Amino acid sequence: MTTAENRVSITDVTLRDGLQIQPVLVDSDTKLAVLEGLSAAGVRSFEIGSFVSPTAVPQMANTAELLEAMSRHPGTTYAALVPNLRGAERAVLAGVGQVRLVLSASEGHSQSNTRRSVAEGLHAAGAVVDFLRGRGVTVSVAVATAFVCPFDGVTPIRRVQAVVGALLDTGVTDVVLADTIGRADPAHVARLTDTMLASFPDVTFGLHLHNTYGMGLAGVVTGLEHGITRFDAALGGIGGCPFAPGAAGNVATEDVVHMLEAMGLSTGIDVGALAGPAGILHAAIRAPLDSSVARALGWAG
Ligand code: COA
Ligand code: ZN
Repeated sequence: MTTAENRVSITDVTLRDGLQIQPVLVDSDTKLAVLEGLSAAGVRSFEIGSFVSPTAVPQMANTAELLEAMSRHPGTTYAALVPNLRGAERAVLAGVGQVRLVLSASEGHSQSNTRRSVAEGLHAAGAVVDFLRGRGVTVSVAVATAFVCPFDGVTPIRRVQAVVGALLDTGVTDVVLADTIGRADPAHVARLTDTMLASFPDVTFGLHLHNTYGMGLAGVVTGLEHGITRFDAALGGIGGCPFAPGAAGNVATEDVVHMLEAMGLSTGIDVGALAGPAGILHAAIRAPLDSSVARALGWAG
């Protein structure tokens, strides 16, 4: 592996992607306890929730409450996902450090998730970037269904290129390629990563992988081998998009950390210390944790 100083950055998305599909509502005190546990374990980048319609995703309705209650650790990024300008305005008011705009690369998921076309999503991105300019809040864009769409099938790479090219024109230089339903095989990860890195040298890319078919960790290794050093993950392998049928959990934070550290890479995260927040999460969602580390180490499950 040839990453700078062997460092790999993990963005923990437990409190957003992880929880958004959970049927048991989690209060902000419990979210805070999970966040503090993850911070204590060394996590320095978070998606702590989203500012979307509370009718669409009730689990995210208390994101502002969480932001009000939590303390900010130095050198830590606290991002919230937003679908539109309204969400960005709410996120800034609540004090996020980063807005992560979601837009889909495929028309089917774009309509299902946000009731708009891909072109309208790009228009929203422009509005969000304009709004954030000069406000001290960074912007990142999560390109959903960058690999496969549950409605339209495989997303052609040229479509992802077109979307990222348009984002670059609006001033976005931070992009997360998301395999929303966990269908990206390692060869697909390699193809998309190679094309994107070669086409857009001024963009920093991250990968957001789900483990539906057990290909998540293989995708992480492939991404690394092809030049990606930022990965999303969720504690206990929970998560999924409520508007993408067939989505299962994210790659588990503890599995990704364990694997990378075993490979001699540095995440800054103590895998053993993730047991605490994993236990709190398990009790809150009243569902088993779905990760290899949780099983191997006998964590709550
Ligand atoms: N935050 C809170 N409420 C919002 C909002 C936001 N960012 N954007 C829109 N709304 C509200 C509107 O005020 C309106 O409320 P009302 O019915 O009480 O008047 C309602 O949502 C519908 O607004 P509209 O502009 O017509 O949007 P829509 O019906 O086309 O819905 C979204 C679009 C994006 C707001 C909605 O589909 C959504 O929030 N989806 C969630 C996507 C998501 O989180 N997916 C999982 C992560 S990828
Ligand atoms: Zn996801």
